[in-house]
Amino acid sequence: MPDLSVELGARAYPIHIGAGLLDRADLYAPHLGGGAVAVVTNCAVARLYLDRLERALRAAGARALTRIVIPEGEQAKEWQTLDRVFDELLAARCGRDTLLVALGGGVVGDLAGFAAAVYQRGVPFLQVPTTLLAQVDSSVGGKTAINHARGKNMIGAFHQPLAVIADVATLDTLAARELSAGMAEVIKHGLILDADFVAWLEANLGKLLARDRGALVHAVQRCCQLKAGVVAADERETGLRAILNFGHTFGHAIEAGLGYGEWLHGEAVAAGMVMAAELSARCAGLPSAEVARVRRLVERAQLPARAPALEAERLLELMQADKKAEGGQVRFVLLEAIGRAVLRGGIDPALVRQSMAAAR
Ligand code: NAD
Ligand code: GLY
Repeated sequence: MPDLSVELGARAYPIHIGAGLLDRADLYAPHLGGGAVAVVTNCAVARLYLDRLERALRAAGARALTRIVIPEGEQAKEWQTLDRVFDELLAARCGRDTLLVALGGGVVGDLAGFAAAVYQRGVPFLQVPTTLLAQVDSSVGGKTAINHARGKNMIGAFHQPLAVIADVATLDTLAARELSAGMAEVIKHGLILDADFVAWLEANLGKLLARDRGALVHAVQRCCQLKAGVVAADERETGLRAILNFGHTFGHAIEAGLGYGEWLHGEAVAAGMVMAAELSARCAGLPSAEVARVRRLVERAQLPARAPALEAERLLELMQADKKAEGGQVRFVLLEAIGRAVLRGGIDPALVRQSMAAAR
């Protein structure tokens, strides 16, 4: 039985969460179709987990197995890498019945998901996330994309996976910096939707950073449950789903401004959440004690709470170009309270500058 599912009618799909799931042939078997499978992963994850995944896929009935290994890092989330994936799929004669499996973090998931969305007008795919960030966020919800020099995730598509298989045991090998980056999205889910979960995080952060399995399973489950609810209500981000971008308007500008890969996505989101909390205090009534709580949680998760050395004007310019800007007007996700998010446009840029300065 799946732990959770994303309720999207005929396109509903399960999210399996637990330790040791990577080897579970029974979880892959229902999705194999004709048996042709192409696994997209990166070189680091391939070394760690590709053989095990392929063994499980074969046991599940996969016959033709193609492996496509892309370079590591955010810089790989771009057009040339995508083109190489298409080239290898075509060279291996992968047809429309091929199942694409994304094995890795959010970079692999976003890029392989986009490849699946457009290869031969769309093929099915599975998300097998191996970073905390991917398990709590990017593998769920069907947003797929690559970056463009002019902006983050600017070229992409909505394409839901057939299932998400999140093995928390794979987090054992994750670098501490990457685990913290994933914590940013964990904290985000609590801040926008669940004050009790924030209190749980405050009490259990030490266990999470020490990779306590039980704590990790609980955090991944709660985040996926919260995100699945939002995605089911607003798959294409016509309204509610935008709250999942809390901290991201600032964060994406930081990533683009510094150059992709300089700060990890989660690190940029962490500093972005502190700026968004500062802005919330100025425009949405968030008490300053709660801003301090956000900052403390970010710092305790070993994430940057301060903005990088980037000109405020440059950040503002990059925010205007963000997908979340409408008619050139940036819409911010703000907190009225911990656990309650609102969307606001038409904010005085002077308040945005003040909030960025307060986070320096
Ligand atoms: P990532 O994919 O770059 O992975 C981080 C690093 O961890 C990489 O070096 C990778 O090789 C390594 N790694 C992966 N799994 C490992 C494991 N089990 N053990 C050891 N090393 C491992 O980064 P990420 O933080 O997973 O994802 C960030 C990306 O996700 C960004 O591009 C961001 O835009 C995207 N994102 C997408 C969504 C969405 O809804 N689609 C949501 C949030 C973030
Ligand atoms: N990470 C934002 C979303 O999935 O909508």
